[in-house]
Amino acid sequence: MFKNAIKHIEEEIRITNNLNNCLNSICTYLNEKIDGYHWVGYYFHNKSKQELELRSFSGIPTEHTKIPFGKGICGQSALSNDPILVEDVSKESNYISCNINVKSEIVVPLFNKKENIGQIDIDSNNLNQFTNKDLKFLEKINEMISNKFFQIK
Ligand code: SME
Repeated sequence: MFKNAIKHIEEEIRITNNLNNCLNSICTYLNEKIDGYHWVGYYFHNKSKQELELRSFSGIPTEHTKIPFGKGICGQSALSNDPILVEDVSKESNYISCNINVKSEIVVPLFNKKENIGQIDIDSNNLNQFTNKDLKFLEKINEMISNKFFQIK
């Protein structure tokens, strides 16, 4: 499943020169094609405001389009620079709910060289949706995005 998705996304990134269009296509593809990926979004860092800003998503609209660094799973990852896999969101004290159906979540940072500049955030309505395989898959996608759009600066 992930092999075909990587091929598809690799091609999408190759042919798309606009970052927002590219992120939109990736969010839509992952949301529609990968089982259990019920909400998929990209947040980017606004360093001066110390917050995350939602740049692209596919799924039910969220009111959390801006998240302060440190708040929620997304904000924690923004500060730690580490990915976070949450098996059961009901057990997390620092969690921001976007939708009552969500049961598990993964956040994977997007790096420009070594700088953490954003993240992909995926919510699932299934408990324990995400494993190390999802992590590797999403790291690969973020690496491809970064190679095309950021590292050439
Ligand atoms: N659950 C996230 C907030 C973003 S929504 O899932 C879209 C969090 O705790 O940071």
